[in-house]
Amino acid sequence: MRFFLDTANLYEIDHWREFGLVQGVTTNPALLAKEGGDALGRLKNICSMVAGPVSAEVTYQDHPSMIQQGLRLAGVAPNVVVKLPATIEGYRAAKVLGSRNVKRNITLTFVATQAIPFLMLNSPPVEYVSAICGRPEDFGVVSLEASYLKATIDRLSKVTQLLAASIRTSVQLASVIPYADVVTVPPSTWRTLFANPMTLQGENDFLNAWRELPAEWRTS
Ligand code: E4P
Repeated sequence: MRFFLDTANLYEIDHWREFGLVQGVTTNPALLAKEGGDALGRLKNICSMVAGPVSAEVTYQDHPSMIQQGLRLAGVAPNVVVKLPATIEGYRAAKVLGSRNVKRNITLTFVATQAIPFLMLNSPPVEYVSAICGRPEDFGVVSLEASYLKATIDRLSKVTQLLAASIRTSVQLASVIPYADVVTVPPSTWRTLFANPMTLQGENDFLNAWRELPAEWRTS
């Protein structure tokens, strides 16, 4: 299993590399827009910072434009994976881009069955399907779709990797680990995990007790 970082922020990519959590990067138009400036230049920088796959999403909704943009994005660097939505137009674009040897990540998949037509593409098979896990939970819907999607991929005997995305919490992260080939995690989630209040409180409790020992009895 691999961990990608879900961000378009160069500082975050540099920061989280130290922890082995940047085996790839996923971006989307919203993440790029949040950073401002020249999005294509930013994408080039990200691709040069990361050895693994970097997902870049199309910004058109008709397949001819998706195909043209997908080819341009794929030309940015050899590690670009073109993200396409799980729509009819996305399907048409995925088919053509696959035949042009462009790597693809099918995104905005909320129920496993949406992935089926994309999983049936064989020449070549789609590289990744992204299960969006956190977004439904924003609306109070607990998503089990990563497990269903993994079962669907296995039942169809496909090599497509399940990429669990939109991971906002520790619980969401833990719930996809049995199924995902890749989990893309935003920096905010890793930051929260490193600042668990029980860990910080426990550390303080232990050290406060330790400091009550006479100095000559403490190990240095
Ligand atoms: C990843 O591929 C998706 O673009 C991303 O995880 C979506 O996250 P969000 O639901 O926080 O926007």
